[in-house]
Amino acid sequence: MALLPILTYPDPRLHTVAKPVIDFDDALRSFVADMIETMYHANGIGLAATQVNVHKRLVVVDTSETRDQAMVLINPEITWASADKQLGDEGCLSVPGIYDGVERAVAIKVKAQDDHGRWRQIDASGTQAVCIQHEMDHLLGKVFVEYLSPLKRNRIKTKMLKAQREAERA
Ligand code: NI
Repeated sequence: MALLPILTYPDPRLHTVAKPVIDFDDALRSFVADMIETMYHANGIGLAATQVNVHKRLVVVDTSETRDQAMVLINPEITWASADKQLGDEGCLSVPGIYDGVERAVAIKVKAQDDHGRWRQIDASGTQAVCIQHEMDHLLGKVFVEYLSPLKRNRIKTKMLKAQREAERA
């Protein structure tokens, strides 16, 4: 297994739209294992392939407290979302140190394939529902800061670029 480098906002590659996964082979399963290892190592509750510059429709999530319930969602589709929405603070491994409010459906039903291509349905609510919606946005090239006002977004962009310049200099 290997840790994968995570792209940082405003890297333009984060805006790439992912393509469906077609081959459910050993290479895919090895990539899924790397994704899970990378998510745990970064203390994240979710990671989309887009964030490691692989533009395939694949996300991993684990919102359990025990950090041993990793789930892979391949070619995920939301088949139902509650009309009930809630505003909650979100963060992202691609936007380190930034947390801000985003409105999301409180509960969702998602259809997705596992790493052997088997379809199943996931009923998610609370943090898990928010996390899946956040990760699926990545597959469409969307980062959560795009829900914020242009003013806030520009401030975050400036802050990220400054931090990246400082990291390069260090
Ligand atoms: Ni994210």
